[in-house]
Amino acid sequence: MSIHIGDHVPNFDIETTKGHIKFHDWIGDSWVFFFSHPADFTPVCTTEMGRTAELADEFAKRNTKPLGLSTDTVSQHLKWIDDVNDTQNTTLEFPIIADPLGKIAKLYDMIHPGEDTTEAVRSVFIIDPKQKLRLTMTYPMNVGRNFDEILRVIDALQLADAKKIATPADWVPGDKVIIPPSISNEEAKDIFPQGWEELRPYLRKVKLS
Ligand code: BEZ
Repeated sequence: MSIHIGDHVPNFDIETTKGHIKFHDWIGDSWVFFFSHPADFTPVCTTEMGRTAELADEFAKRNTKPLGLSTDTVSQHLKWIDDVNDTQNTTLEFPIIADPLGKIAKLYDMIHPGEDTTEAVRSVFIIDPKQKLRLTMTYPMNVGRNFDEILRVIDALQLADAKKIATPADWVPGDKVIIPPSISNEEAKDIFPQGWEELRPYLRKVKLS
């Protein structure tokens, strides 16, 4: 099944390293960083799991819960977490889904047969508290994800929701943002009383205070 930005994400019941979860209930009022891995005890995945654990406070600041998935069992995951903690010098606390049969991997279209017929590729799903898919990224098995980018896109999505703005190329927090074309200059005067720079009528940049 393919799943698209804007979709209400599919629900599932599954075992994880932190017990059984019903996904929609588990989301609660948080954002979710749901990310898949091909297999336990593999080098790239080990560094990604360690990096996610290391960023626990950064995810918490953004009201975002990480949820991993790998196509192995809970007991394999638990042994692997010991290795992750040893080699990456972390304490991994977030749940990892055990998906040895690829049930959730298939549901979320994480199996890309041209890459591997049974193991998940490196998918990322950023999901909001309304259980709506807000962003996806897909990486091949041999390229580790950029976690600064993952935090950056969560910041961009949350700011866009809060301030009715869009973010330009390479935006990082503190940079000017874009007034979307759906907001007229009349409306913009109320929302952005500080004024804005108009490079073209469709390209207006504003500094948020
Ligand atoms: C890795 O995590 O290092 C990995 C996993 C599957 C295929 C290639 C690399």
